[in-house]
Amino acid sequence: VKLECVSLSPVSMATDPEQGPLCIFGTGDLGRSLGQRLLQAGYKVVYGSRRPHSCGPLPAGTQAMSHEAAAKSANLVFICVHREHYDFLERLAPQLVGKVLVDVSNNLKKNIYPEANAEFLQRLVPGAHVVKAFNTLSAWALQNGPSDANRQVYLCGNSVVAKQAVEETATKLGFTVLDRGSLSAARELEDFPLQLFPEWRLPIRLAVGLTAAFFFYLVIRDIIFSYVEQGKDISFRIMVSLANKVFPIVSLILLSLCYLPGVIAAFLQLYRGTKYKRFPDWLDRWMLCRKQLGLLALALASLHVLYTLIIPIRYYVRFRIAAHTISQIKENKTSEFDTTMAWRTDSYYSMGILGYGLYVLLGLSSLPSVSNSLSWREFSFIQSKLGYLTLFFCTFHTYLYGWDKFLRLSAYKWYTPPAYMLSLVVPSVVLVLRLLLFLPCMDRSLIRIRQGWERTDPE
Ligand code: HEM
Repeated sequence: VKLECVSLSPVSMATDPEQGPLCIFGTGDLGRSLGQRLLQAGYKVVYGSRRPHSCGPLPAGTQAMSHEAAAKSANLVFICVHREHYDFLERLAPQLVGKVLVDVSNNLKKNIYPEANAEFLQRLVPGAHVVKAFNTLSAWALQNGPSDANRQVYLCGNSVVAKQAVEETATKLGFTVLDRGSLSAARELEDFPLQLFPEWRLPIRLAVGLTAAFFFYLVIRDIIFSYVEQGKDISFRIMVSLANKVFPIVSLILLSLCYLPGVIAAFLQLYRGTKYKRFPDWLDRWMLCRKQLGLLALALASLHVLYTLIIPIRYYVRFRIAAHTISQIKENKTSEFDTTMAWRTDSYYSMGILGYGLYVLLGLSSLPSVSNSLSWREFSFIQSKLGYLTLFFCTFHTYLYGWDKFLRLSAYKWYTPPAYMLSLVVPSVVLVLRLLLFLPCMDRSLIRIRQGWERTDPE
């Protein structure tokens, strides 16, 4: 501790704009944008360059000099060069002793080097205090200053004082700093910008998998069956009729999969008699991607609504209605008004509309700007209570749509159940389990467990 205090005494003043300049190694896009921002925040900036006299345009008011001279003049040095060019720093090690080196670098791919860039830098210059920071910001974000979505700067490093110095600078630039700990976290920070929607991966795979499975199931049951058994080519139905089955079916299943892990977790807690045991990993991961599952489900339900809206203008539908009317005229027949049919169709449309309305509400309340303005109770009321109500409406919509079809043998083409029946399995299970949890004995135990009570099994 003593050593750190002695060697870092100039560092604590490194970020005071009144004091000496800050140094940037590297005159590329990132170096220039960072220099510009530092200037605006009132710092003096010097650039260290291999060719100080021909390094292209730099922000007005800054100065370019050799690496050695620039390093000498500042206590805090931003390293804005690619890792492949770090070798020259080894040569400069004597001049960099006791200085704070800020590693802002990123790689093009994960795991191409055995150690993180910042750890490599620390090895090259053991006498300096390396801090990994700013790498999650683009040159563009630096130049334009922090915006709502891009306000955070992650940093990590082994020296607390060095991190403080970088934190002060970042704060003066208008960023919020999140300290991720020691330099061993550098790899994680360097992987951040290379992540590709990690929390969306599982839900997207699931949605694509279910869509493909139901699509093939329906092609076989509807199109191929018709062709083989009745010699009719109705392949055109793939475009609207089939899509308007696959999307709502997958949407309903995904929605129910948002609520299934919560129900499983509740039963697990009841079974274990405590909330203090960790959930299995798969359940944790599943719970963490519920928002993404819900948003994908909402997107698919929206497609279903759009497809439903165009039903009346479809050529096929208009042709069928006209043909039916003409044949009735020819045969001088009038069909009776079927009140049951009217009730049934209106009910399932209405359930669908109510379900969709709540679906949209759930989606809106999951937006950070909305959810941040809700209290925990409000958020959990919407996401849990209204969530189950949404699932109930959508499931009921599908049951009413099916009505008595399950009684008709002709519905089971090639002995397979209609796809909508398959889509009802998971939602029905979730709703029944949720109802069981409402039973007073279950509900009371669960509330006590969640308040911290533990069941002690007799030895
Ligand atoms: C089926 C309307 C919202 C799930 C249908 C059908 C219609 C319809 C007309 C029959 C389609 C056909 O004959 O092929 C509506 C309307 C909605 C709505 C007007 C709201 C504005 C929803 C929502 C869900 C959903 C939010 C939940 C995911 C289903 C399912 C089917 C269906 C699973 C059965 C698909 C099949 O196998 O044919 N809906 N719906 N609907 N709907 Fe909806």
